[in-house]
Amino acid sequence: MKVALLYNQKPDIQNGAGKYASDEYAEWDNPETIDAVAAALSETHHVIKIDCHPNRLREIIETLEREKPDICFNIAEGAGAVSREAHVPALLEMLGLKYTASDPMTLCITLDKARTKEILAYHNIPTPAFHLVSSLRDIEPVLAVEKKFPLIVKPLHEGSSKGIFERSVVTTNDDLKAQLMEVLTQYRQPALIEEFLSGREFTVALLGNGEGVEVLPIVELTFDHLPHGSRRIYSYEAKWLWDNPQNPVEVFHCPAPLAPPLEKSIAEICKRAFVALRCRDWARIDVRLDAHDNPYIIEVNPLPGILPNPDEHSCFPMAARQAGLSYNQLINRVLNEALQRYNALPQADHVFLRT
Ligand SMILES: Nc1ncnc2c1ncn2[C@@H]1O[C@H](COP(=O)(O)OP(=O)(O)OP(=O)(O)O)[C@@H](O)[C@H]1O
Ligand SMILES: [Mg+2]
Repeated sequence: MKVALLYNQKPDIQNGAGKYASDEYAEWDNPETIDAVAAALSETHHVIKIDCHPNRLREIIETLEREKPDICFNIAEGAGAVSREAHVPALLEMLGLKYTASDPMTLCITLDKARTKEILAYHNIPTPAFHLVSSLRDIEPVLAVEKKFPLIVKPLHEGSSKGIFERSVVTTNDDLKAQLMEVLTQYRQPALIEEFLSGREFTVALLGNGEGVEVLPIVELTFDHLPHGSRRIYSYEAKWLWDNPQNPVEVFHCPAPLAPPLEKSIAEICKRAFVALRCRDWARIDVRLDAHDNPYIIEVNPLPGILPNPDEHSCFPMAARQAGLSYNQLINRVLNEALQRYNALPQADHVFLRT
């Protein structure tokens, strides 16, 4: 089978420490990940790699039209605002090509954390209470009302801990104002103020489709080994600066030590969120407990991070390993989930797929 691997590769802007100077390209993949996914797919398929940088749009289209892949393996994160993750899947749909993972609608919704939470709330799936601040004018009214601190302030549509720093957890009106200003002016997007959940944190990898989606062993994030006095969150600092292969910080534990009822309720809300948001093939869902050990969905990642080197502590491959799936098996399983999904489509839906 001919498989096109579509990705966005991080530009070569590494600083001396081997990490990225800014969080601008935090979501894009490094060459090692792209090569590892290509190698996994190459075990049984003919693979064409396509770098989906937006300034190569014509070349991307020409390559896809010339090569006519049987299916595309999509890990392209895109560039731009809230629809960026949907750009490549939308293009593939226009070209009548099959592809792995979620469709443009799900990718747009899950990149808007407030819209995601509205859908979760409609389905009675617990998610922290929130308030959206869309412009500088909205700040003063928020400061005027009485609030229960601590709160966390996040950019509305980022991932990979972009814009979520130690200082994002606020305990005073002054800090809240500073963070709102930072998100609105530097990230140039609305800011989400969320109830801060003080309990344990987990991330849950899911594979498959619909009600039959499989929950892989749950990963727990612990913050005891972060620098003394730091916030108990998986911030940009924790993810990209403090934890690196040279100085690993022990954050992840898989399988998470969980009493069976709590494990069941975490798995249950994650499955329900996956189905409610119409995720496809795979997704990683972040969960946090409140002070009474009740689980809440923090966010849904339908294009999960998949660093291949186990020392880089990437949660989806870690959960897969715990479930007995090697990296290559995981990648091929995602491809097969997509193929099965297309095969299971009622005939009428194939009308939109050109051959
Ligand atoms: N409501 C909350 N209460 C407590 N901690 C939170 C809350 N929201 C986010 N956090 C902390 O901030 C971290 C990053 O938040 P979130 O998962 O929303 O960002 P992200 O950048 O989209 O993450 P990812 O890297 O998984 O894409 C979480 O892993 C968690 O530690
Ligand atoms: Mg997250």
